[in-house]
Formats: sequence, C-alpha cells, structure tokens
Amino acid sequence: MSVRDQFTAAFWDERYGSSERIWSGEPNAVLVAEVADLAPGTALDVGSGEGGDAVWLAARGWRVTAIDVSRVALERVAARAEAEGVADRVTTAVVDLYADTVPGTHDLVTAHFMQLPGADRPAIFRGLAAAVAPGGTLLLVGHDPEGMPPEAHEHHPPDMFATAGELVTELGDALDGWTVEVAERRGRDAVQPDGRPRFLYDAVLRTRRPT
Ligand SMILES: C[S@@+](CC[C@H](N)C(=O)[O-])C[C@H]1O[C@@H](n2cnc3c(N)ncnc32)[C@H](O)[C@@H]1O
Repeated sequence: MSVRDQFTAAFWDERYGSSERIWSGEPNAVLVAEVADLAPGTALDVGSGEGGDAVWLAARGWRVTAIDVSRVALERVAARAEAEGVADRVTTAVVDLYADTVPGTHDLVTAHFMQLPGADRPAIFRGLAAAVAPGGTLLLVGHDPEGMPPEAHEHHPPDMFATAGELVTELGDALDGWTVEVAERRGRDAVQPDGRPRFLYDAVLRTRRPT
C-alpha cells in the first residue's frame, strides 16, 4: 500500500468499520487546554474521527462542523452528538482534504493528529488557514518527531512528523500578519495500542488571524 492510500475513504472506512470504536472518545488534552480562554463561536474540526473533540466543543457552546474522509467515522460523530444532546450544534461533512476545498470560515479551525506526508502538508494546512475567520484561531496539533518510537515509522514515514516550528515555516506567507501564540513541543503521558504507557511529545501550533 502506498502512503497516499492511507488518506482515502476506503482505507479509513475499513479501519473504522473493523472496530466498534478506535479512539478513546475523550477530547484531546491540548484542545481542552488551548480552547479554555476562547469564547465559543463556530469551529471546524478537521479529520474529526469519531468526534471526541467535536462533541466536547459542542458541549461547551461551539457550533461545530466535523469533517473527515470517512463516512463511518462521521456517522459515529453524529450518533455521539445525538446521545449527548448536542446534535443541534454539530454538523458533519465528508471532506477529502486531497480533493475538496475546506468548507466555510470559522472562529476556530482545529486539526489533531492529521499526520500528512511532508510533501502534501503545506498546501493542505494552508487550506486550513484560509478557512479561519478574521480574528479566529488555527490550532494544529500533531506528533512531534522527538521521541517517536522506531515502530511508528512502519506506518508513518519520518516526514509525517513535524515540529511546530516546521509547521510555521511551511505555512509561510499564509500566516502573514497572524500572531503565533503557541509554537512548542509539549510532552504528555500516553497509552500505546497494546496498553503500555509511553511518554510522547505533541507539536502544538496555535495562531490567530488578524481581525
Ligand atoms: C489519526 S486520526 C485523528 C482523529 C481525531 N482528530 C483524533 O485526534 O482522535 C486521523 C483522521 O483523519 C482522517 N483522514 C484521513 N485522510 C483524510 C483525508 N484525505 N481527508 C480528510 N480526513 C482524512 C481519518 O479518517 C481519521 O479520522
């Protein structure tokens, strides 16, 4: 399978379809920390998976559009939003970041662990920056290359991990006039799929578009 095949609806529908649930259902810790001081508005959750982040945002008053290439994942987002009583604040849309324009403009555009090949990342992330409304926030969180276990490279070539500084460089003039509020490597305790604990580093980039 080519790396590009890992970003298709077929790949992710099969992955989600193979298990009742893949992710924990909890919101990502960096999202919780970074959104704490933002007034709720509209949010776009990119590569939303099963909706841990989108539903958490909606429960805090955000009107969220959850986008993902996988229809199976988005059905779970909608079901979870319904179960938690926030369905009126969550919209889902199948969007393939390789083929489609990201819909609308939003007060918050957030993407967690959208690990893209290095060659594709700048154009796609610039598209996300373009979807931030004036005065809005772009929050990109991914696996930092620091401390990545060697087995991670079986599925992810090394260029799929970038530091926050590298993301700033890649976004280039898409961030002209923006304020870089956070660009850092942030450590956290994590649990591997096999249940073993591991200390991981996230690359955290939070930038604000001028009004
Ligand atoms: C590692 S998961 C992250 C899920 C969620 N953001 C989280 O933090 O738990 C990556 C997500 O990106 C989605 N994805 C993969 N390729 C995509 C593409 N071409 N366009 C849009 N979403 C894509 C997958 O379906 C998957 O839900």
